[in-house]
Amino acid sequence: MKQYELFIDGKKIKSASTAEVYDKVTGKAFATIYTAGEKEIKMAVDAAQNAFDNIKLPPYQRYEIIMKAAANIMQRQREFAETLAMEAGKPIKDAMGEIARSYQTLILSAEEAKRFTGEMVPIQGAPGCENRMAYTKRMPLGVVCAITPFNFPVNLACHKIGPALAAGNTVVYKPASATPLTASLLCEAFAEAGLPAGFLNLVMGKGSLVGDLLTKEPRIKMFSFTGSVPVGKELQKAAGFRRVALELGSNSANIVHDDVENIEKIAQLCAKYAFVNAGQVCISCQRVYVQKNVFDKFCTAAVQYAKTLKIGNPLDETTDIGPMIAKKEAVRIENWVQDAIAKGAKLLVGGKRDGSFYTPTILTNTKADMSVICKETFAPVFSIIPYDTINEAIDAVNNSNYGLQAGVFTKSLPIAHLCAEKIETGGVIINDGSTFRMDNMPYGGVKDSGIGREGPEYAVRELTEEKLIVFNFG
Ligand code: SIN
Repeated sequence: MKQYELFIDGKKIKSASTAEVYDKVTGKAFATIYTAGEKEIKMAVDAAQNAFDNIKLPPYQRYEIIMKAAANIMQRQREFAETLAMEAGKPIKDAMGEIARSYQTLILSAEEAKRFTGEMVPIQGAPGCENRMAYTKRMPLGVVCAITPFNFPVNLACHKIGPALAAGNTVVYKPASATPLTASLLCEAFAEAGLPAGFLNLVMGKGSLVGDLLTKEPRIKMFSFTGSVPVGKELQKAAGFRRVALELGSNSANIVHDDVENIEKIAQLCAKYAFVNAGQVCISCQRVYVQKNVFDKFCTAAVQYAKTLKIGNPLDETTDIGPMIAKKEAVRIENWVQDAIAKGAKLLVGGKRDGSFYTPTILTNTKADMSVICKETFAPVFSIIPYDTINEAIDAVNNSNYGLQAGVFTKSLPIAHLCAEKIETGGVIINDGSTFRMDNMPYGGVKDSGIGREGPEYAVRELTEEKLIVFNFG
């Protein structure tokens, strides 16, 4: 079985403990990782702090290194994608797409290294400051900890590591325990690109244990985390006055108004967005509010689309839907769907589980307090809910603890504008679904969906401290 080591201070490191990584289809172990304990966490933070204190990489060098790492990833796209397909169960065509996105994310990050700047402060506008000049400068924070999820393990890692390095920080990187192998490949790509030792340190292992050790390390100045709400809240508590960026998921909603031209096409798009990556996407189309006149047509088209999807082995080029990350997650969603049906929901299609696979599922007649509506399903399941008036739909969208992104389909400019103003989410996408994301967009939520924004230009703001400099020439 292939073994993957920790990567600390530019070296591959074996520790005293190991864990197995499972193929998400067969459930069989196919790789072993060395896991970090107290000693390795200290070594990683020592290395990151030492690199931050002693090696000053000018912005153009940071740009060149990140650009080279991006090129390395693209050269090894197939190897990355196959590893991703096995460790995450992501269909290979989507895995190839994720690596292509990662390449773009790193290019965007590299560009930020040369771009981020401060501003002149017009201090002379204040009486008594005639002989003074002031400006701000964005300073790196120091050691930053990136904690990444299993659903987009490469691209979301690039969203944290790329901007952190671009801004002049050093990184301790903890990947999800289900998907540590592409993390190891990513560190290789950066090392081969010439990133000096200590700038990127990989600590793999069980989330709760490694996470706990990391939050106790006072030299870490910021935690950038994507994952569940309870873990995000714990992390925020443990971080104290240190910075956090938290991207914590959602039960994303979409509105389809009856003035749209091609209801079938929109239904297919919403279903595609609900089922991609087996629904394990924070902005997955989970709730779709459809105006009554077009409700039946929408349901028919969505069900037809769901039936065309091929479920199977992620390494098969024709597979659309792979397994969920673990059998227990498939069992969880099976229970939620059965519970909804027992309380009156109607199953239009799907609702079947085979091991860790769950079939694309569509429900109607759901109620706001059902788990499939009010919690984050993170599974290939969505609900179609009829509405009369746009205000009713907006209220339903906002009746959520989450607020990451929402989608609105309408031809009416006033309705689009009303939704853009009233919907309580980090982003409102007009005439596309909640799942639409380009990697240069500001991405992040309100309410329990988190704090801070990703997207390299925006992440760099979170990853730097604004410093004021005042000159007195008087
Ligand atoms: C996420 O699940 O938060 C990431 C979605 C994406 O990058 O497309």
